[in-house]
Amino acid sequence: MSTALNGAVAKQDPGREYVLTDKQFSLIATLVRSEAGINLTEAKRDLVYSRLVKRLRRLQVPDFGAYIEYVGSASGNEERRELISAITTNVTNFFREPHHFEHLGGAVMPVLAERLKRGESVRMWSAGCSDGREPYTIACTVLQAFPEAARYNLKILASDLDHNSLEKAKEGRYSAEMVSRMPPAIRDRYFKRVGDSGEASQQLRDLIAFRFLNLLNDWPFKQKFDVIFCRNVLIYFEQDLQAQIFSRFCSVLKPGGHLYIGHSERVSGPAMKDLRQIGITSYRHEPTGGIK
Ligand SMILES: C[S@@+](CC[C@H](N)C(=O)[O-])C[C@H]1O[C@@H](n2cnc3c(N)ncnc32)[C@H](O)[C@@H]1O
Repeated sequence: MSTALNGAVAKQDPGREYVLTDKQFSLIATLVRSEAGINLTEAKRDLVYSRLVKRLRRLQVPDFGAYIEYVGSASGNEERRELISAITTNVTNFFREPHHFEHLGGAVMPVLAERLKRGESVRMWSAGCSDGREPYTIACTVLQAFPEAARYNLKILASDLDHNSLEKAKEGRYSAEMVSRMPPAIRDRYFKRVGDSGEASQQLRDLIAFRFLNLLNDWPFKQKFDVIFCRNVLIYFEQDLQAQIFSRFCSVLKPGGHLYIGHSERVSGPAMKDLRQIGITSYRHEPTGGIK
């Protein structure tokens, strides 16, 4: 590994262990944008430094130049995944933005339950599920509204591109502080107490399939979705890319299906004509040409 990529040195805290030059920051930003869609503006420079410095120490590489060279090399595939994992923001919570779950349980599930009873299938997607608290909340909401759901053809796909978060989601074990964010009756019904932690019950797990999926790549779905949660994910993407993803959501959302997005996100681009806003961050798919 060489240190040839140091380039011009930007303003840097002299007490810092490593130097991150403008050129190195720009190379990292380009890689992250092309691999994950995440837009790293100059304002994210300190965040990039603090998240990646741990990787440099761990790998014992001498500087950012050597790290970038390694990540770009044939043997750096694994580290590229670690880099993306380190850069992604995985903040999440049980029942985050509770109005979405009130709407799902109170207005959407009664209709979907009737469809399930008629033998139809129902599909939900938590796109950018982080450590699983969002899809487990969806599963709790489904079961609260329709306790027999597991006997019918209902599945929740939970996907993320950060393999570390996805491992935690599959494990389904959360600290006492995390589970304390749930209404106690729901926590006690759907989570097993293991020491101080809470572990998702089999009943919840049976409804969810966890998968690695990068929103930038192909979406290999056989069926369309009735409900999509993609919250606090696209906010990290540039406007054009957000608009493209919203259009792709329309292409995999059934007419009449629902899309929930994050509190500081808004649907943009051509999808706006097919997604009717029914709440601040809730949309109903009403494709031009009407609902069949
Ligand atoms: C802030 S978390 C949001 C978690 C959850 N949706 C919520 O609102 O609580 C954003 C998640 O999006 C994932 N993500 C970012 N870029 C992605 C991409 N290109 N494809 C799939 N997931 C992505 C991150 O790994 C992270 O787990």
